Parts: sequence; structure tokens; C-alpha cells
Amino acid sequence: MKKLFVKTYGCQMNVYDSARMADLLAPLGYVRTEVPQDASLVILNTCHIREKAAEKIYSELGRLKKLKDARAKAGGRLTIAVAGCVAQAEGAEILARQNAVDLVVGPQSYHRLPEMIARLAREGGHALETNFPAQTKFDFLPEQDSGAGPAAFLTVQEGCDKFCTFCVVPYTRGNEYSRPVASILAEAEALAAKGVREITLLGQNVNAYRGAGPEGTPWTLACLISALARIEGLQRLRYTTSHPCDMSDDLIAAHREIAALMPYLHLPIQSGSDRVLEAMNRQHSADDYLRTVERIRAARSDIALSSDFIVGFPDETDADFEATLSLVRRVDYAQSYSFGYSARPGTPAAAARRQIPDDVKAARLQALQSLLGAQQDAFNGRCTGRILSVLFEKPGRKQGQGMGRTPYLQPVHVEGAASLIGEIADVRIEAALPNSLKGVLVSAAVRDKVLVH
Ligand code: SAH
Ligand code: SF4
Ligand code: F3S
Repeated sequence: MKKLFVKTYGCQMNVYDSARMADLLAPLGYVRTEVPQDASLVILNTCHIREKAAEKIYSELGRLKKLKDARAKAGGRLTIAVAGCVAQAEGAEILARQNAVDLVVGPQSYHRLPEMIARLAREGGHALETNFPAQTKFDFLPEQDSGAGPAAFLTVQEGCDKFCTFCVVPYTRGNEYSRPVASILAEAEALAAKGVREITLLGQNVNAYRGAGPEGTPWTLACLISALARIEGLQRLRYTTSHPCDMSDDLIAAHREIAALMPYLHLPIQSGSDRVLEAMNRQHSADDYLRTVERIRAARSDIALSSDFIVGFPDETDADFEATLSLVRRVDYAQSYSFGYSARPGTPAAAARRQIPDDVKAARLQALQSLLGAQQDAFNGRCTGRILSVLFEKPGRKQGQGMGRTPYLQPVHVEGAASLIGEIADVRIEAALPNSLKGVLVSAAVRDKVLVH
């Protein structure tokens, strides 16, 4: 039995790709392990979005080189592969910088892994594949193995044509591509048959989805969601990540009309300043975004919103940063991600003259994160006392405990729910802790009440 260790960095799309790489390698006899020391093949599925993310890979490769050398001394062999967005962006440079690496494969060519590994075993040397092939990898992937549990990811769209001036994604993932409806429905049906209850549709620009429908005409994401909602057993649907410019009327209406579509939306704005938004090439103003948020809330008043922010974009002034804080106060987010701007090679903003000093970036990031953190705490606090439906995903850390998620994507720990994995149950939220909620099964809560009175 050959063992495969995959370490995943970056976004959910990489989580999906890692699972698919494991599916591809299963017929070759590879079984996944959680320990690199056991593995004969290690894949680092990498992220290039910020400098830190990319640099992390080289320190990990340094550690793996030691493992590989020790293995060789003992007469064994460890194959090291770099996949994902660093592989796409840096290609052969990786082989030059760390000679322990055997194989480099980009995110659009990993379906070729089996033949690359076979070639390495036969001929030795190195294997490198970073082309954007004409035929999509999705045509070559085997059926998804639902190792993921009751909540799964499904990539429906890849790549990006937006070219925000800070972002590497259009270069690492290529042009926008939407998978045809039929192949997505088939994958979702197979997942549902294996017990998956919730699917998150993934795409770098998922709401720009325009996949070919069975009649040949393209479907919107809203049409796709409504077809998926009819699949037996699928109870919850989500999608991420959306661009504000592509929040179409039919998608917003889907939040009112489709019960399975969960009331949580990740809608990154990056900055609240029109000047910065323009320099970022985001193609909308802060006001446009606020109007979109209003339309979404009119369709689904309880929707929980989240966003991404970048602080310290080149030439960002104190006034620009204040505009971001003011936008955050107006929207009131349930959750958010925020980052200090990181100059990425080859992107237009990296060449801008007025880069912001690190200490200014750090101070702005701290101020923004404390505001966002307070909003998140307030949102979670408002959930205490409410009864929310929870899909139980896995056992909690404590004996008998189950971990699940609310419709608003909050993690919840519930005593006595370990046997409910894969099921949806009503939970009364009792407490909001810093990173999760604590709740009790409603039936148990009712029983306790009866005992007390
Ligand atoms: N497609 C998504 C997200 C892409 S990357 C979107 O359109 O929003 C995820 C997040 O990383 C971005 O939303 C942005 O906030 C952040 N990010 C991207 N490039 C960055 C950079 N150069 N420096 C800092 N943060 C960055
Ligand atoms: Fe990057 Fe902008 Fe595309 Fe998102 S929309 S992936 S931030 S270029
Ligand atoms: Fe990172 Fe690539 Fe995703 S750069 S965020 S892994 S698309």
C-alpha cells in the first residue's frame, strides 16, 4: 500500500482540488495519510495570494528535504510534488530553488498526475506541467469520493477575468471557465447518494457562472442552484466567492425563493474608498455595493454577510481608510477576513510608486480587525437564545459532543450530538464563545424544562 500525504494551503478551491488529486491517485494504490513520515508521495497544494503564503511553501519544502534525505539513507524513496497556485506562478523556478522537488503541476493540469508519476518512476528526473490545457481537467476526473463528510465542496467555475490590480488569481488560474450544468448535476447527485447534505458551490467568481445547459444555452448560477435544490437528500446549498458586480436580480431572488439556499453570503468589497476601489479596478463604487447589500437584505432580511478587506493598498490615505471603517459600520458584518496589502510579482499594483509602510498597514489592520471582531461577537451574541437548525459534520473534541454549523455558517458544539453526524437538528444556542457557539438539542432543552418545573 502506497501512502499519500496532501497538505492544502489557500482557498476552498484548493481543498476541493486536493480531494480530487487523492481521487485520481486512488486507482494507483495511494491511500491518504495524515502523517508525512508515513508517505511515499507528498503533495503540497499551494497558494500564491500573498507573499507569506508563497514563502511558507519553501520552509515546508526545506523540512521535507530532510525527510527525503533520511528516507534515501534508509534505502527508501519519498516523492515530493508541488501543486496549486505557486506551482503555476513559479513553475521551473521551484525546481531550481529546491532540488528535493520531483514534480510541479499547475491547478489546471493535475489530471495528468498519474502519468507524470509513472514517468518519474520509469525515467527519474523531474516532471513539470503548467500549461492551461485546451480540454478541461474536469473531463478526466473520476467520481468524487465523499471522504469529506456531510458537507462537501463542488467547483462549478474557475479562473477570473476581472484583473483586480492586486491579485494573482487571473494569472494562476487562468480565464473564467464554467463547467457544464449536466456534469455538475451528476456530481451533486452522486454526492447526495453518498450522504452529503450540504454543498458549497465554488468559483473564484462563482456568481459569474454561465455554464452550458443541457439545451446548449448558458445557465446562470440562480438556475443552477434551483436545479440542485431539487436533488433528493440535498438540504443545504451555499456558494462562494461572489463579486459585487455579478449579484444579479435572479440570484438575489433565489435567496428569497429557495429554502435550501442558506442565508449567508461572502461578498468581498476590499475597500470602502471609491478612489481605492478604482485603483484596484474593482469596477464598482462603495455606494453601488451598499445598494446591492440593500437589495439582498430586502430579499432575505436575516442574511449574514461577510467580506474580504485589504488595508494599505498603494496610496491609501487615512481618509481612504476611514471610508472603509465607515462602510463596515454601515453594513454590519457577521464575519470577515482582512489582510495587509502584499505586493505580488507581475500585478499592476506592485509597480505603484507610493507603497504604504508596514507599520501603517499593521495599525490600520488592527483597527479594522477590532471593529470587525466586535461586529462578529455582536452577531453571535444576538444568536444566543435562538433555535437554529444545525447540520452535524463531525464529532467535537469532548466525548459525545457533535460539531455542526448553523445556517449562518457558525460552528456550534453540542453535547450528546455525536450520534447525529450527517443529520440536521434544532439547537438552542446557549452561549457565544470567541470562535464558536455552544448549544443544546432542542428536544433535550425541552426535557430539562419539564424536569425543572
Ligand atoms: N475571488 C475572490 C477572492 C480572491 S483571493 C474575490 O474576488 O474577492 C481572496 C482574498 O485575498 C481577496 O478577496 C483579497 O481580500 C485578498 N487578497 C488578494 N490579493 C491580495 C494581495 N495582493 N494582498 C493582500 N490581500 C490580497
Ligand atoms: Fe482576484 Fe479580483 Fe478576480 Fe477576485 S475578482 S479573483 S480579487 S482578480
Ligand atoms: Fe490562493 Fe490560488 Fe486560491 S492563489 S486563494 S490557492 S486560487
